[in-house]
Amino acid sequence: MQPVSYSIPQRILHWGMALLIFFNLIFADGMEHWHHLVKRGQPVTPDDLASANIHAYVGFAILLLAVVRIGLRLVQGAPQPPSAEPALLRMAAKLTHGLLYVLLFAMPVSGAAAYYFNIGSAGDLHADVLKAVLWLLLAAHLGGALLHQFYWKTDVMARMTRGV
Ligand code: HEM
Ligand code: HEM
Repeated sequence: MQPVSYSIPQRILHWGMALLIFFNLIFADGMEHWHHLVKRGQPVTPDDLASANIHAYVGFAILLLAVVRIGLRLVQGAPQPPSAEPALLRMAAKLTHGLLYVLLFAMPVSGAAAYYFNIGSAGDLHADVLKAVLWLLLAAHLGGALLHQFYWKTDVMARMTRGV
């Protein structure tokens, strides 16, 4: 039997993680400043390091919660896509969700490789490629949610918020 809604822990994880991800996407300046200093061989103050560490620890929290979230999904499942959704867009939603899950791991891992092991290519992947892909996927994800809410008028938004 598939559930009709996401469970309360799944919903809390979805929105809590969204906050943490947007925090790291929007407020990455501490980490960027640290990276800039290290690249130029300039001294790093304890304050610079603390700001960079906030980014790193928030990223690790995302990684840890992603493991919990996937575990919960395996145990509790997820609701069926609504029948109002055209087959092609249903596949697009599935692909977007899958890639978002991949990025919940790829972002922290590539960031850690750059931060702790000084791997420049991992930093480029993290800060250029994966960051851009994440923003694109989030735009598509938000677009999908809006389409469901206002065009197809399904209960997709409700099952990730108040529950149905
Ligand atoms: C960083 C931000 C976000 C990430 C990483 C994210 C990720 C995900 C993932 C992976 C799923 C699939 C859940 C599953 O079936 O296992 C999902 C579902 C969902 N998300 Fe997000 N999301 C984010 C932000 C948002 C925002 C801003 C909205 C809407 C305003 C939203 C609305 C929804 C809805 C309505 C669902 C349920 C979709 C369905 O039942 O088919 N999400 N999200
Ligand atoms: C989902 C989690 C994460 C997100 C969304 C994220 C996001 C970002 C963003 C937006 C930037 C700035 C890119 C730019 O415009 O220049 C950045 C840079 C960086 N982040 Fe993360 N990050 C995450 C996790 C981590 C973790 C866990 C670490 C380290 C342990 C880390 C280390 C770095 C480093 C070293 C940079 C600078 C890389 C460079 O400029 O080459 N990040 N991150």
